[in-house]
Amino acid sequence: MGDHVRVGREGAILTLVLARPEKKNALTAAMYRSLADAIESAQSDDRIHVIALTGDGDLFSAGNDVGDFIEVARHGDLPPDTVRFLRLLAGNRKPLVAGVQGRAVGVGMTLLLHCDYVVLADDALLSAPFVNLALVPEAASSLLLPARIGHPRAFSVFALGEVVDAAKALVWGLANEIVPRAGLGDAVRAVAGRLARQPLEALLATKALMRPLPAISEQMTREFEQFMQRLASEEARAAFAAFLERRPTEGATSRR
Ligand code: COA
Repeated sequence: MGDHVRVGREGAILTLVLARPEKKNALTAAMYRSLADAIESAQSDDRIHVIALTGDGDLFSAGNDVGDFIEVARHGDLPPDTVRFLRLLAGNRKPLVAGVQGRAVGVGMTLLLHCDYVVLADDALLSAPFVNLALVPEAASSLLLPARIGHPRAFSVFALGEVVDAAKALVWGLANEIVPRAGLGDAVRAVAGRLARQPLEALLATKALMRPLPAISEQMTREFEQFMQRLASEEARAAFAAFLERRPTEGATSRR
């Protein structure tokens, strides 16, 4: 199932493409594994200076695969590859550039908090409706999002499922630039290329200095515990069933 993530290399840039457009690039355990493998091997590969992450199709990512959530709730443990991916994302030494078109939902949004440069297409819409799904935030976003945009805005994103459009995301500090949808790939390539030409050791040291890794790791551990409890809850079961049956969830629209 590695084919749902395309891994390539353009010079010093490792390119990762979410390639499951028929399911809106919803992330499965197999996709987390492919992403984790690629990020892990890039850490010690001196040829790779920068990582660029994009998604095929009309939107960046609909977040975690909801069917997988149901499986996880049944088994009672987060899939090791999901945890591995999130930990590697947090500890990744190489600058990470993302290009986002259309929706970025759940982990599709929260992973952007681990990116160093985010290019949004003008149609980008970011959301992390964890409470709508009877879940709690992950990927250390419960620490990183309030730190980035302030508690009131972050709370509204998590607790009410507020959708943040590209213009607002830029003003809030969630992205570096907005480009026309047709120019997204070129814009990502351009900035990744510029980064790849910078002095590598200084670039990596700068990124490392900017990331409070112990705090991020600790918060992830706290989130994993809460997340598993919520996943197993009756309210989460009802929310997942509503999504799969295309019914609105209580107090929210299921597909927003
Ligand atoms: N997990 C599993 N499948 C998903 C998915 C997800 N997170 N998101 C979309 N899909 C699937 C749909 O079930 C549908 O499959 P089908 O064609 O077999 O029925 C297909 O992808 C297309 O999705 P659809 O909802 O029809 O597309 P849309 O363009 O109308 O809406 C979204 C796109 C992203 C707004 C909507 O799919 C959505 O809200 N997805 C769920 C997001 C979410 O809650 N993620 C978890 C966050 S923690």
